[in-house]
Amino acid sequence: MAHSRTHNGQGGSSILGSSVKGLLITAGVAAIANLGRKMAVQAPTAMAHDWCEGLIKEHKATLAVIDKLEQLSPEQTDRRAMLLMNLTHMIAKHAMQEENVIYPVLRRGENGQVADALNSDHGEVKAMLYELGHMEKGDAAFGETLGRLRTALDDHMRQEENELFPALRARLSDEENKKLSREMNMAGLMLA
Ligand SMILES: [Fe+2]
Repeated sequence: MAHSRTHNGQGGSSILGSSVKGLLITAGVAAIANLGRKMAVQAPTAMAHDWCEGLIKEHKATLAVIDKLEQLSPEQTDRRAMLLMNLTHMIAKHAMQEENVIYPVLRRGENGQVADALNSDHGEVKAMLYELGHMEKGDAAFGETLGRLRTALDDHMRQEENELFPALRARLSDEENKKLSREMNMAGLMLA
């Protein structure tokens, strides 16, 4: 047996080599497929060609998913769970873009307290999503929490869209706004 192992050492490593190569090729194909998927997810935001417009588009898409969730009956538990998963992913990606890129730039203009408040809003939203994820999807509490989530998001988005984001965009040069859009889309791709 020992002899046969030694004898087959070369062949063994060649088999190992080909399976490693196969794995690498599979990983490469998967990475390319995943990048394609990520770019497709990020495309609607990136195609807005402006960070502020891109984020507003995402706000609208997020509220549209909540609308769909609110239209479901308590008996449609699987559909509720699926849409909640979509919503949680959309909001995580959106929050990544705002928390990692937009709010830090907002903070530069002595808007520290405003940035803190926005981050705190996101904390509350994430907590509500966590609670929804851990609830029985047919419970009355699900609808109630979803309603609170919608109200919180509405207030938060209105402040960003009507006041804070346009003011930030106006404060920055065209070049700075372009750079911010690029950075925001890169942050989005990480979670897309
Ligand atoms: Fe936002």
